[in-house]
Order: sequence, then C-alpha cells, then structure tokens
Amino acid sequence: MSRPSHTAFLCRSCSASFPKWVGRCLVCNNWNTLDEVTLSPALRGVPRGGAPPRRLAEVEVGEATPRPTGLDEVDRVLSGGLVAGSVTLLGGEPGIGKSTLLLQAVASFCRHGEAALYVAAEESAGQVRARAERLGPLPPGVWVVSEGLVDRIPACLDVTAPALVVIDSIQAMRAGEGGAPPGSVTQVRECAHRLVDEAKDRGVAMVMVGHVTKDGSLAGPRQLEHLVDTVLSFEGDRHHALRQLRAVKHRHGATHELGLFEMRESGLVGVSDPSGLFLGDRLEGVAGSLVYPMVEGCRPLLVELQALVAATPSTVPRRSVEGIDAGRMALLLAVLDKRVDVPLQGCDVYALAVGGVQAVEPAADLAVALALLSSAVGRPIDPRLVACGEVGLAGELRNVPHLPRRLAEAERLGFRRAIVPASAPDAPAGLEVVRVGSVAEAAVAAGLLGGAMTARPGVPARAA
Ligand code: TYD
Ligand code: MG
Repeated sequence: MSRPSHTAFLCRSCSASFPKWVGRCLVCNNWNTLDEVTLSPALRGVPRGGAPPRRLAEVEVGEATPRPTGLDEVDRVLSGGLVAGSVTLLGGEPGIGKSTLLLQAVASFCRHGEAALYVAAEESAGQVRARAERLGPLPPGVWVVSEGLVDRIPACLDVTAPALVVIDSIQAMRAGEGGAPPGSVTQVRECAHRLVDEAKDRGVAMVMVGHVTKDGSLAGPRQLEHLVDTVLSFEGDRHHALRQLRAVKHRHGATHELGLFEMRESGLVGVSDPSGLFLGDRLEGVAGSLVYPMVEGCRPLLVELQALVAATPSTVPRRSVEGIDAGRMALLLAVLDKRVDVPLQGCDVYALAVGGVQAVEPAADLAVALALLSSAVGRPIDPRLVACGEVGLAGELRNVPHLPRRLAEAERLGFRRAIVPASAPDAPAGLEVVRVGSVAEAAVAAGLLGGAMTARPGVPARAA
C-alpha cells in the first residue's frame, strides 16, 4: 500500500525522517520512536506549476531592504534591520533576556506607526504587559496574544496585519490537538515549518525564540537553523549584566557584527563604549592584572585579565578559570615552566576575564601569561600597557588577526604601550609598540623579569 506523499515518519529522539514506518530508527537505533507527521508545503517541495527555471544571469537582484528595529545594537547585528518575509531564530539559554530583548525591539519597531504581533506561547498577555511596564512607552501598534496553538496564528495575523511577528517561544508551540508534546523535535519542526510558510506567504518579518541549554543540545533550535534565514545567538553570564548578540547565520548580510547590551532594572540598554564599561572599576597597581585588546566579531573591546598564583601545600593544586580557556591556560603554565623557567605547576592558579567576558581567543595568550607571571613574581604591570599575541609551544609569539583595530582601541582609551608579536603590522601613532619574539622577551619588556632574572618573590624556587 502506498501512502500519500505528504506524510513522513520522524524520529522523536533524533528527528531523522523516513518515508515508511520502521520499528527501530535506522539512525539512532531507538525502538518505537517514529511518529507520522503531515509535511508542510515547504517540506513537500515545489508543486507542479511553480516558477520555471531561469538563467541565473537574467534574474534580477532581489530587493531585500532591511527595516530597522530602532534598537541600534540589534540593527548592527542584522546589517540594518529585519527583512520583510525573512525568518530569524533567536537562540539563548532560558533567563538570558530573549523575551525582554524582543519586547523592546517590538516596541521600538512600532514607534513610527507600524504594527507588530507578539505571540506569547509561554506567558499570559498580562505577564507580557507586566514586563512591558518596566521597559518604557508602548506604541499602539504593539499587539499581544497568548497562544500556543500554531493553527490559530494565521487568524491572529489576519486581525492585526503586522509587519513583524514574534513567536516566544517555538518550543512552547504545538500543532493541532493531541500528537507529540510541545518542545519535542517533531512538534518544533512541524510548527516551525508552518510558521515559516506563513511568514513567507505574507511577507512578514518573523522572529522565533528558541531556548538552548549550555551545550546547545536541547531539541529544537539546532534542528531549525537550516530552515530560517537568520540565526542569532543571545549570550551572557547570568551573574553579570553584559549580554552579547551575534549572528551565527545571516542570509541578508554579514555575520561578524556583535551587539552588546547591559541588563538593567529597566531592560536592556545598548552598550556603545564597551571598553569603558569593563575598565570602569579597575584597581591599578595590583600584581596579576593586565588589559588585553580583544576583538569580538569585528568589534574591539579592552578587557582586564586577572590572575592569582598562590603557593599551596596540596599535591593537587587548584586550577580555576572564568572567561579564559582552561586548556590554553594549562599550555601557558607549561610554557612558562619550560621556556621562561618560572615553574608554577605546583601552585594554585586562578585566572579570569573581568565582566563576564569570554576572552577565549588565542590572541589572549600573551596577556594571560603575563598576568600569571605578574602575580607569581608579585610585580604589578604598568597600568597603561596592553599585550596581545598567540603563544606557541616553543614560547614564541605569533601574530593575531585585527591587530591594528585592537591597538587603535587601546590608543583611544589612553593606553601608552603595547607588547605585540615581532611580525605585527604598524600601529597607530600615540602608542609605543614593543615588538617581541617570545614570552620571555615580553616578560622582560613588561618589567616582570630582570635581565639577570634573580629576585622573584612568590615563585617557588626550582631545585638548584
Ligand atoms: P527574560 O527576557 O524573561 O529571559 P528569557 O526570555 O531569555 O528566558 O529575562 C530574564 C531575566 O532578566 C529575568 O531573570 C529578569 C531580568 N530582567 C531584568 O533584569 N530587567 C528587566 O527589565 C527585565 C524585563 C528582566
Ligand atoms: Mg522568555
């Protein structure tokens, strides 16, 4: 018996798709995990009678004009704004501020008379209103509906005729009564397909929220990335106010921009001068601290790195990092031991990037190494000095991307000297650039090790 071609069987556990029912999923090998689903037109492919093929050279360039949301940091990441008929997936951990960001974007978008519909699938309309109270004025064009049934969305769109619709969240939506529970891979895919069809048919810009866990493994968002035009990721450390918005995929522009926000009592506020934010509470003249010019996306920001090296009687010394790559720090400790002759392997070592920033790029190596060394020898580093470079296993310094941009930012914020790899390109005037070939040379340039390398308080002496 042949089945109608508009159904398929999806595995509940791995979301593999099969034309026929089988008792055991051929991909993940789980038993009885296949559900029959009705495929949306998008999945069924183009029906007969659709547009004929054309020579690519004769196709006119599409008019994908982005419409600004009015939130500068969001528009920066979206290369100008939201494109009509495009679908954006906003991923992030629960509680990071996705609903807050989108409610602010919706309110800002409607300031000039546009209409937007906020579909709250997880909250009541009253809860959305309560949040909106904290966020500022509400233009009349902002509509809300508390609805989790995807079948009812077209009617809501008919009534409100919005230019922007927000689905918060895709995991809380369900298609039809009964069937797989909301949040299951089958439901998320089916709902997303139907909503994408709706957005494309009506030419309305759509933003869907997708919750992801720390490892990004939760059913849903990862499965949808191919289906949408834009994937945004909203990130941050819950214990800090800083939030970062970046584009993981963007069909209508570049993906290298970074949006920065600070979560306040009255919602998210765009951060136009991040370096100033991070360096605000800096304590100068303390050993173990050094500023490093980081680049996130294409955006330079100066971040303070701190290290604390302490002698310990324990045979298993502690290693603790926050915002710094643990593997790279282990490598740097080994390099300091073997190439600079400063053995810290037996000490407790703590290192962090201030402000909840993730300074995990290899360009942070030199700064981490110098901060460790500074704490170990108990000598503060000149507070007007920055350092940047990737460290190799031979203790050599390697060039890093965007160095001119990093140094320009350092110069703008009043730094005077920069320790950089020997092959670094020219730096802006006003900044004295010290080119060095190795970590050991950098340590001397930073005043941490004298030429003779004698007095090194705090460093456990190597057996002579
Ligand atoms: P929320 O937008 O609900 O997160 P998500 O939709 O990603 O799950 O916001 C999460 C947190 O933000 C919540 O714990 C409270 C905090 N918050 C503020 O600090 N200030 C505000 O103005 C708002 C609205 C929320
Ligand atoms: Mg939410």
